[in-house]
Amino acid sequence: MTMDLFAATGEMAALPEILVPGAMVLRGHATADTAAVLAALDGVFAAAPFRHMVTPGGCRMSVAMTNCGAYGWITDKTGYRYDRIDPESGRDWPPMPSPLLRLATRAAAQAGYGGFVPDACLINRYVPGTRLSLHQDKDEMDFTAPIVSVSLGLPATFLFGGMRRVDAAQRVPLWHGDVVVWGGPARLRYHGVLPLKAGSHVLLGEQRINLTFRKAT
Ligand code: SIN
Ligand code: FE2
Repeated sequence: MTMDLFAATGEMAALPEILVPGAMVLRGHATADTAAVLAALDGVFAAAPFRHMVTPGGCRMSVAMTNCGAYGWITDKTGYRYDRIDPESGRDWPPMPSPLLRLATRAAAQAGYGGFVPDACLINRYVPGTRLSLHQDKDEMDFTAPIVSVSLGLPATFLFGGMRRVDAAQRVPLWHGDVVVWGGPARLRYHGVLPLKAGSHVLLGEQRINLTFRKAT
């Protein structure tokens, strides 16, 4: 157990911070992957640029989104779903770059979810003022796989709530390189992000990028 904590970066890694049973923060787990991940993301953004999707209720989302992997999460007037095709390009989503896949599988294993092979990575871009209201990740077919969420760029306050929208939510500060994993009894917990505060990150500038890895099918 203790040995694994040193394996990811070769340095001393922090102990997981347990939010509730099944959910934890792996502080700095992705920090050493930053260069490889950002380089890979350049290719993804070129093939599938960020866009503001529309909710079934007709509201434009303030978070800009794109995807990589076999499936992409989309929303439009007809609903929320996963699709193999990017509706903007009419082509497949760009494949999930191996540095992203490796990071997600490694983080899940570190959190106790061995054998996680995501087929979808939703990429969210927040600029100052952008927020994501409380929601459950429930468009996937199989809830036995966890969610792995990687924070890059500006810090944010993550809300981690209960099984009902009205349940009190923990406020969890997340910094560049932090990874949140939730699964098992925590898989359907409500979560969201408070409005991003203004600032500038040394590598990413005035934005926060979040990668959410899921097993959609
Ligand atoms: C999400 O729930 O899709 C994203 C969470 C985050 O940006 O940290
Ligand atoms: Fe989510």
